[in-house]
Amino acid sequence: MSGIKIVLGDITKSDCECIVNAANKSLLGGGGVDGAIHRAAGRELYNECKTLGGCETGEAKITKGYNLKARYIIHTVGPVYQGIETDTDFLRNCYINSLELAKAKGIRSISFPAISTGAYGFPKMKAAFIALNNVLGWMAENPVYNITVEFCCFGEEDYNIYLKAYGMITGDNQELVEDFAKFVAENDLELEGLTVMHLADEPFENIRSGQKTVEIRLYDEKRKKINVGDTIFFFRGQDNTEFIYAIVTALHHFDSFKALFSSHLFDKTGSGNMTVDEAVKSMYKYYSIEQEQKYGVLGIEIEKAE
Ligand code: APR
Repeated sequence: MSGIKIVLGDITKSDCECIVNAANKSLLGGGGVDGAIHRAAGRELYNECKTLGGCETGEAKITKGYNLKARYIIHTVGPVYQGIETDTDFLRNCYINSLELAKAKGIRSISFPAISTGAYGFPKMKAAFIALNNVLGWMAENPVYNITVEFCCFGEEDYNIYLKAYGMITGDNQELVEDFAKFVAENDLELEGLTVMHLADEPFENIRSGQKTVEIRLYDEKRKKINVGDTIFFFRGQDNTEFIYAIVTALHHFDSFKALFSSHLFDKTGSGNMTVDEAVKSMYKYYSIEQEQKYGVLGIEIEKAE
């Protein structure tokens, strides 16, 4: 059975079979955790790293652990935080590529530091969400491969951040879910299995009252990533205070708004006493006919989480 551990400590002392190094592209050592690992592993690590030919951001390479308790070290290069979308992609790749390498080696326990959150400046809470969310997602996609993933936090601050982020993601506490929803919306986080949507007052109230259980969007690149079972946070308007937490129960793809409103879904769209043509017309307040023809339409069937 795979599992997550959040620990406070020095990764060079970890009992895991493999530890992950937040390296730089040269792989020849540096400060922070990179420096600590090279000092603890000894000169032979440096000599092996010299043979690897460096490493690109988001990629991962493996060496022996030498003087460490760990048998292996996986070196990965995190993104230098710039506040752009690719930050999240590269940081995600560090975790996924390290796990893929560990799986290929048959490694059953691996310890990660908080990659990119030191010298590379990645906001700690955002990085923790990305790390936890993508490791949990990878475990869900690799249910047969049992591995224990340890998040080794070097200080109390990091440790508390990871505990809070994990509590929010696992949703084991309603109050934390609210923090989580607002945090995700404020940071425009793209997290596996989670979508944020903003609604005008009327559709928001219709979802809250249960009259509306199908939300309609263009079937564009962002909505193509939505899966049944995902969580959607619907916020009222553009401020991130009031929200409804729902689960996707079904997805219905149509070529046009007319096809959707002419289907069995009409009564679930919160269109009230509008005719099909009036309902179609109301969608052109938000989208153009060109967009409708380009992307098609997605009926997202939801169930409010009580
Ligand atoms: N054990 C666990 N975590 C540690 C340790 C340690 N011994 N030492 C530092 N850390 C933590 C830091 O507190 C931070 O949370 O590792 C996290 C990552 O910080 P950095 O080591 O600065 O790594 P990063 O932000 O990814 O920057 C990488 O810094 O050290 C150089 O060569 C490295 O150029 C690269 C850059």
